[in-house]
Order: sequence, then C-alpha cells, then structure tokens
Amino acid sequence: MTILLKPIALTGLMGSGKSSVGKILKRQLDCKFIDTDDAIVNELGLSIPKIFEKFSERYFRRKEEELILNISLENSIIVATGGGAITSLKVRNFLRKNFFTIYLMSDIETLWARISLSKHNRPLINDDNGRQKLEKLLADRSQYYCQANLIIESTIRDTKRDIVKHILIELSKSSIVANKEI
Ligand code: S3P
Repeated sequence: MTILLKPIALTGLMGSGKSSVGKILKRQLDCKFIDTDDAIVNELGLSIPKIFEKFSERYFRRKEEELILNISLENSIIVATGGGAITSLKVRNFLRKNFFTIYLMSDIETLWARISLSKHNRPLINDDNGRQKLEKLLADRSQYYCQANLIIESTIRDTKRDIVKHILIELSKSSIVANKEI
C-alpha cells in the first residue's frame, strides 16, 4: 500500500486537470481530497459564475484564500486549488511552507481544447476573446506556477492515468509517498 507523507497541492490553469488528477490520486493513496472550487460552491450554494456575478471576483478570491489558509494540515490530504489561487501572496507562502506543490503544466492548445466547450462555467474567459484571455492568464501566472516543487506536463496526448503514474513515480523519488506493508 502506498501512503502519502506530506500534504499535496495541485496547481495549474483551468483545464490542466487538477480536479480529475486529484480524484485519481485520492483513490490511489486513499487520502482526503479537497477541490477548493467545489468547497466554495458548496459553502455558498452558488455556481462560480453566479458568485462572480452576484458578489465579484474579489469576493471569490477572498473566499478562496480564506479556505486554503484554513485547511487542516494533515499528511494525508490532496488539495486541487482553483487556477487563480496562487495569485495571492499569502496562499503562495502557505503552500510553499506546508505542502508539496505540483504544477500541472499544459500548453494553450491543450487548455483550450479541454475547456472551450465549458467556458460558460469560467467567468474569466467566457466571451469571444476567451482564448486570448486564457493565454494572458497563462503568461501572467506561469512565474507563480513554476515555483512548484514538481512540474508535470499535462498535454492533450497524456491520459489522466499516465499523468498520475508519472506523479507517483516522482513522489516516490522525493520521498513524499512510501510503501507500507499491511
Ligand atoms: C479561476 C479558475 C477556476 C475558478 C474560477 C477562477 C482562475 O478554477 O476558481 O473560475 O482564476 O483561473 P479551475 O482552475 O479549477 O477551473
């Protein structure tokens, strides 16, 4: 049995696969999983577009920051962060201090192919210039994403299972997971 020895945070832009990779990892490592977007949506009872529309992006960012800074730190937890969470300095410092961070790095073609059909769920890119806006977010945020402990490529050619396999190999090399006899 493989167990997790340090909390993991998955970062990356919308469409990089944080939620789906996180769910597979959770099953493989038998640990807790938090998707920060889902947690905020559940808490407020509103979809992300509705939260942006009714309150504002700033309000959403405050909620996101508050939620992440209050995550109870236990070794056995994986957190899929919203794509913009790392724009907060407090969040970056918190993740750096307490988590093993993994950036799922995707090229713009991959991201756009994965999310263009559901862009209505993503208020920051939900218009005719969605692709250009996504490109700008990637350019602006790459400096933060690249501060991760581990960078894993997540392209349209990689299956989620291959990505997870790759992550598990790297986690084992970095002693973030260990095999335990049962
Ligand atoms: C955002 C990414 C979204 C969500 C919100 C804002 C961003 O999360 O938090 O739409 O700023 O990149 P995902 O990355 O999980 O899609």
